Amino acid sequence: MTILGTGFGMVFYLLQAVSGESGYAQNGDLEDAEADDYSFWCYSQLEVDGSQDSLTCAFDDPDVNHTNLEFEICGALMDINCMNFNKRQEMYFIKTRKFLLVGDSNICVKLGKKNITCKTVNIAKIVKPEAPFDVEVMYREEANDFVVTFNTSHLKKKYVKQLMHDLAYHLEKDGNNWMHMNSTSTTMTLLQRKLQPDAMYEIKVRSIPENNYFDGFWSEWSPSSHFRTPETKSLGLSLLYGPVFLIIKRLWNNCVRNPKR
Ligand SMILES: *[C@@H]1O[C@H](CO)[C@@H](O)[C@H](O)[C@H]1NC(C)=O
Ligand SMILES: *[C@@H]1O[C@H](CO)[C@@H](O)[C@H](O)[C@H]1NC(C)=O
Ligand SMILES: *[C@@H]1O[C@H](CO)[C@@H](O)[C@H](O)[C@H]1NC(C)=O
Ligand SMILES: *[C@@H]1O[C@H](CO)[C@@H](O)[C@H](O)[C@H]1NC(C)=O
Repeated sequence: MTILGTGFGMVFYLLQAVSGESGYAQNGDLEDAEADDYSFWCYSQLEVDGSQDSLTCAFDDPDVNHTNLEFEICGALMDINCMNFNKRQEMYFIKTRKFLLVGDSNICVKLGKKNITCKTVNIAKIVKPEAPFDVEVMYREEANDFVVTFNTSHLKKKYVKQLMHDLAYHLEKDGNNWMHMNSTSTTMTLLQRKLQPDAMYEIKVRSIPENNYFDGFWSEWSPSSHFRTPETKSLGLSLLYGPVFLIIKRLWNNCVRNPKR
């Protein structure tokens, strides 16, 4: 009797433990899955509209039903604890002068008053520069090169001034075989001898914050420019070799003459 009673008791206890545990595990799984489904990314742009900064966030999964979802940022703000994002189609954004640009903020996805998922970000470390523009290519026959210049709004900014630019160019008929060149300057040169003669090239530039206080992501690409290389190098070569040959001849003459002095 007592053995049977203990047996029943144990079975009852086990049932309770299993159901309780599995119920808990299910809830846990559900919450993990929810947070994963609502994972998101953000970038900042500083001084985009005069002295206003912007912060843009979106879900990794563009198909998330975001009807009732809101974004909120708290911390590292001036005069205020938290701010809500505006919603524009699938993007959430804020334009403000209140980012301190020092220390971490917490960005949360909210359903009503409940945080579904949160992320710690430093606004100064997620900067996506504005795309460069006005890419121009000028051929210098006497130097046998192409001078590429472009403009960027960051030249006029106070904060994110130092950028690394990625110049990409390719033979237009050669599909996606892009060549790259890095520089912190808005002027770069392409050597004619590294390009094919009489060919059409496409060229574009993008920027990323240079390793200093500000950090972040590549900008969008600038609008593309196109240029054609001259037919042959022979004219350019003869122009170059002419004077060089004369200089070498003169140096040689000097060398021959000097020992006699
Ligand atoms: C998105 O969710 C809302 C309620 O939260 C619902 O009314 C709406 O039909 C859903 N939209 C889609 C496309 O599932
Ligand atoms: C949601 O996150 C914010 C920080 O962004 C925090 O202040 C708030 O307490 C959180 N709410 C809950 C219910 O955890
Ligand atoms: C670059 O663009 C700005 C306008 O955004 C203009 O004021 C400036 O003169 C341009 N600089 C050059 C070198 O073209
Ligand atoms: C160009 O600069 C970027 C960013 O600093 C770097 O990731 C990349 O490796 C550089 N590429 C070359 C060819 O130097």
